Amino acid sequence: MTSRTSRDVLRRGLSVLGRAIREQPRIFAVAVSGSVLFGGLVIASAYVVGAVVGDVVVPAIARGSVGVAALALAAGALFGISVLRVVGIFGRRLGAGYMQFRLQAAYRRQVTRRYLDLPLSWHQRNATGTLLSNANSDVEAAWYPIAPLPFAVGTVVMLVGAIASLFVTDWALALVGLAVFPALFALNVVYSRRMAPRQARAQRLRAEVSGIAHESFDGALVVKTMGREAQETARFAARAGELRDALISVGRLRGVFDPMLETLPSLGTLAVLVVGAFRLRQGAISVTDLVSVAFLFTVLAFPVRAIGWVLAELPRSVAGWDRVRRVLDATGEMPYGDVTLDPADPTPATLAFADVGFAYEPAEAHLPGAEVLGEVTFTVPAGKTVALVGPTGSGKSTIAALAVRLVDPHTGTVSLDGVDVRRLTAASLAGTAALVAQVPFVFDDTVRANIALDRPGVSDDDVWAALRLAEADGFVAALPEGLDTMVGERGTSLSGGQRQRLTLARALAGRPRLLVLDDATSAVDPRVEAAILAGLRAPAAGGPAASILVVAYRRATIALADEVIYLEQGRVVARGLHAELLATVSGYADLVTAYEQAEADGEQQPRPYDEVAPLTSGLEVEVDR
Ligand SMILES: Nc1ncnc2c1ncn2[C@@H]1O[C@H](COP(=O)(O)OP(=O)(O)OP(=O)(O)O)[C@@H](O)[C@H]1O
Ligand SMILES: [Mg+2]
Repeated sequence: MTSRTSRDVLRRGLSVLGRAIREQPRIFAVAVSGSVLFGGLVIASAYVVGAVVGDVVVPAIARGSVGVAALALAAGALFGISVLRVVGIFGRRLGAGYMQFRLQAAYRRQVTRRYLDLPLSWHQRNATGTLLSNANSDVEAAWYPIAPLPFAVGTVVMLVGAIASLFVTDWALALVGLAVFPALFALNVVYSRRMAPRQARAQRLRAEVSGIAHESFDGALVVKTMGREAQETARFAARAGELRDALISVGRLRGVFDPMLETLPSLGTLAVLVVGAFRLRQGAISVTDLVSVAFLFTVLAFPVRAIGWVLAELPRSVAGWDRVRRVLDATGEMPYGDVTLDPADPTPATLAFADVGFAYEPAEAHLPGAEVLGEVTFTVPAGKTVALVGPTGSGKSTIAALAVRLVDPHTGTVSLDGVDVRRLTAASLAGTAALVAQVPFVFDDTVRANIALDRPGVSDDDVWAALRLAEADGFVAALPEGLDTMVGERGTSLSGGQRQRLTLARALAGRPRLLVLDDATSAVDPRVEAAILAGLRAPAAGGPAASILVVAYRRATIALADEVIYLEQGRVVARGLHAELLATVSGYADLVTAYEQAEADGEQQPRPYDEVAPLTSGLEVEVDR
């Protein structure tokens, strides 16, 4: 690391501290006041001790008797100073603690809030483990130097006071102070510069270790079934070993500098005694002065370390702050419009894609994003069901994401009831269109909470109605505690098909006017899948008044659709009734028949409803604490 970058770290570290002070000015003022009070009293105590020795003890030895009044006065002064010092320490510690933990909490909130605001494309580029450590250890690291900061600021004030008082006492002793204090300061600066790259590396490795840990726990099922335990352990061990080495190198540096920082003030005391003895003989100073100054050097040694603590934490703070800023400054969240759709509208919505083109952001910014969709135009008329069929990777999930505005198109428009979805409010969008994603997600909560999601006006009756439509009422009723059953982390106590139907019920409970099903019933028995879709299409029989866009493969399901859109490589290549496409479009016929064949051969067996819970069940991991 060059000195330019380490100066940069110092500058940026100080600007992080400046931000902290601007955010919590009053608490900081309290803490610094406590610290300055403490510093002033440290100087005062040195002079009181000097006075006790010079004016009480030395004359007492000369006289052979102790003056009780003088002794009582000295004791009273020292006691008073101690009490006030306690007040100073209390104010400083309390203030520093409040400031540090308040900032941590505030920034944790901001970071996690930001995660929710950022678009899907951002999340796809950022690993979960990193997000965890951004909200956790990076926020903590950014505000670590806050703990010793008030102490350090008070110490600087104290040092200035100490040098001034030295000059008042004797210029020769002041020169010793002028040599020792700046040397202490310089040693601290060198220390923190050496520390900078080591701390930054350790902080980065902490995040990587937590990332790997998170991934291997998350993928415990794959790890176990593929017999990858040894490799995963080795991968983790390698990174954990690097972290260990980085931390040891931090410790080694500490081992070298800490004793030096400890020794320098002692050398100062020694110099004071040598110079002071000389000056005493010259009659330039008194015993009181000499003892005061020698004592001052001893008691200053400890507070001066506080400056070193702040400086040593700055690199880690800057590294943590940079990572926090990367989240807070990330852009790309989608602004919502201000058009509202009538929430009480009982009629199904019309979804229209007009000439929609889309490309995912490339992994590296300079590469062009490959087009995923082009010139996609179709409509799901109010109350109708449209099936989206196409080979894997043809863009079906992308269309589903566009329909509920998880992403925005690059060209063309997606509209609901004739309004461009970009002009709708967030609440209108969420209330109108519901997506049941290809990969179901359930919260570690009860069945009821997973379905109602705290939405106002969703009663238990509504939950049961939704479960009935999703053909999930049977298994929920059979659960030991019904709606109150906890489903485990990510629903690990449920089968794949059960999880899918819970997420479907969740979408239905919000009474959406447009339902987008992205392969949402793939893990369900084919007969049940067809029954679900048939139920959804029959509002008269209690089904929702919703238009449906459904990604499906099975003949029985597709045959229920009013229209089938056949997609290949992001383009609509054919549309019509299932029977027509089967007869006229060879790609379509091949796909549907191949899928049917595979199911018959058992390749795509739906999972049994009461399968054994996956291996991650009950495994609760806290990463990077
Ligand atoms: N987050 C992403 N970043 C980059 N490319 C992506 C991303 N998600 C999907 N793609 C690409 O976009 C194309 C369409 O993907 P999409 O998920 O829409 O396909 P799909 O039709 O739903 O496939 P499947 O039937 O397998 O679910 C694919 O080529 C895929 O590789
Ligand atoms: Mg898909």
